[in-house]
Amino acid sequence: MYRTNTCGELRIEDAGKEVTLAGWVQRVRKMGGMTFLDLRDRYGITQIVFNNDTDAALCEQANHLGREFVVQVKGKVAERTAKNPNLPTGDVEIIATSLNVLNPSEVPPFTIEDESDGGDDLRMKYRYLDLRRNPVRRNLELRHRMTMEVRRYLDSKGFLEIETPMLVGSTPEGARDFVVPSRMNPGCFYALPQSPQTLKQLLMVSGMDRYFQIVKCFRDEDLRADRQPEFTQIDCEMSFVEQEDVINLFEGMAKHLFKELRGVELSEPFVRMPWSDAMKYYGSDKPDLRFGMRFVELMDIMKGSGFAVFDNAAYIGGICAKGAAGYTRKQLDQLTDFVKRPQIGAKGMVYARVEADGSVKSSVDKFYSQETLQKMKEAFAAEPGDLILILSGDDAMKTRKQLCELRLEMGNRLGLRDKNKFACLWVVDFPMFEWSDEEQRLMAMHHPFTHPKDEDIPMLDTDPAAVRADAYDMVVNGVEVGGGSIRIHDSELQAKMFEILGFTPEKAQEQFGFLMNAFKFGAPPHGGLAYGLDRWVSLFAGLDSIRDCIAFPKNNSGRDVMLEAPAPLDQKQLDELQLELAPVEDKKA
Ligand code: AMO
Repeated sequence: MYRTNTCGELRIEDAGKEVTLAGWVQRVRKMGGMTFLDLRDRYGITQIVFNNDTDAALCEQANHLGREFVVQVKGKVAERTAKNPNLPTGDVEIIATSLNVLNPSEVPPFTIEDESDGGDDLRMKYRYLDLRRNPVRRNLELRHRMTMEVRRYLDSKGFLEIETPMLVGSTPEGARDFVVPSRMNPGCFYALPQSPQTLKQLLMVSGMDRYFQIVKCFRDEDLRADRQPEFTQIDCEMSFVEQEDVINLFEGMAKHLFKELRGVELSEPFVRMPWSDAMKYYGSDKPDLRFGMRFVELMDIMKGSGFAVFDNAAYIGGICAKGAAGYTRKQLDQLTDFVKRPQIGAKGMVYARVEADGSVKSSVDKFYSQETLQKMKEAFAAEPGDLILILSGDDAMKTRKQLCELRLEMGNRLGLRDKNKFACLWVVDFPMFEWSDEEQRLMAMHHPFTHPKDEDIPMLDTDPAAVRADAYDMVVNGVEVGGGSIRIHDSELQAKMFEILGFTPEKAQEQFGFLMNAFKFGAPPHGGLAYGLDRWVSLFAGLDSIRDCIAFPKNNSGRDVMLEAPAPLDQKQLDELQLELAPVEDKKA
């Protein structure tokens, strides 16, 4: 038997027991005639003591252990004289009677400590060592507990877990596909699913009624802190439901997860915010509601006073930062530089301070009377000590997005984005379509299978851009943690949707014929949602990037630096697949 106990298990009640432990050498310290070994495994750390006076040879053997050696130790549990209240096993130690090196280790390339000395790239290259560190391991444990709770909740609601294929057909909507060549069908390619969307709808046609799957999805898109090229969805679909049914069931699931995994009871119903309000007041379809600072539009008050920047603007709006009137010139310049960064793109920022006597002092005082500035103050309900920050621009949507960045930045600076506070909401009433400058056509905002709001269906012919969808996103702390919709289950309406999206009937049939045909065989009304598992785990763990809750993630260039993937294929494989490569620029050169 390799071990009788784990390294996290022994307590004062075990004193006197003969035990065998196995694990990794965290640290060896020599103090006088004693050698102390911290032995680590997934469950914790236990201190082992070697006494030079009682067994000099054994002690000498321990002195030669290196970090990360795998060892087996036998000994007796004893009460410690100097207890360590920071360790669950800190009341005891093992007086060693034997030591067996199961496997030595080279010196690891970085320290296996909570705060490692290894940089990102090095830790990714040796990810198996990184995973030995407590913070990363804890994230994977949380992920495991979350998937267990998800399964428990959905099973209790009658959902069936059904797998769908990973090799599917490529679809033109959405992000770019990752494709896989087929040896048996030369010149043909599978695509890895961006989500099991159409397959789960077919499962509803099959009468499965309630489906879920914890499933890998693949999207070839630019990466960000909350995006990986392969990620995991908690994907769900239900038959005979309306938007309210889906929202209630998955709000229930979110509350269940908060309670079980974070000990947070969310008793109130989540806020519901129409998409148009989210854009108007927060400049984002995923507003962070941990703090206020709603936008106030100032067109009526500030336009037409001779300040050319505002006079020519299509949008003037601002936020009020409570208690920030003391911001120094330097801090305000930093904020101006922030909004002028190319990624944000504002031309400048106007500020106004509410002084102790209620008067307003602004950076554009010469254009505005105190009366106008007071009107502005009232529009924000600003009080003495508050700071008002204003942006303007010739494109209302763009300016709102810039103001959104400024709001989030101020939220950070004022410490209003506490990771232990949670603000959940549903964004509802999304537009059905959005205009794509790149494609020069309307694109589905969610996906082409989303049902338009019944009352807006007549506008499909007259004003499709104004049509709203039965679509909803769940947003927590400014992160889109899930999204879904009621689906079209009528083949004619589905065909119309493809027509608006610019598909010819032939093309629609070729790409989505399987779905439209299925709808002709008794498709029930249905709808669903998919949660992003990685995003939920990183939210609960307070992580800045979803990478840290994925065992083997990709880096920002989509590479797995440990596996060195992606990599070129050798000629033999290319020949088998009948693939010929066009010359490519060497990106590394
Ligand atoms: P959607 O594209 O909104 O919807 O995805 C659902 C949720 O998946 C998460 N997510 C991601 N997480 C990490 N990396 C990514 N690249 C990534 N992309 C998306 C988000 C998102 O809310 N089939 C529909 C769902 C439905 O309508 O039922 C879909 O895929 O948390």
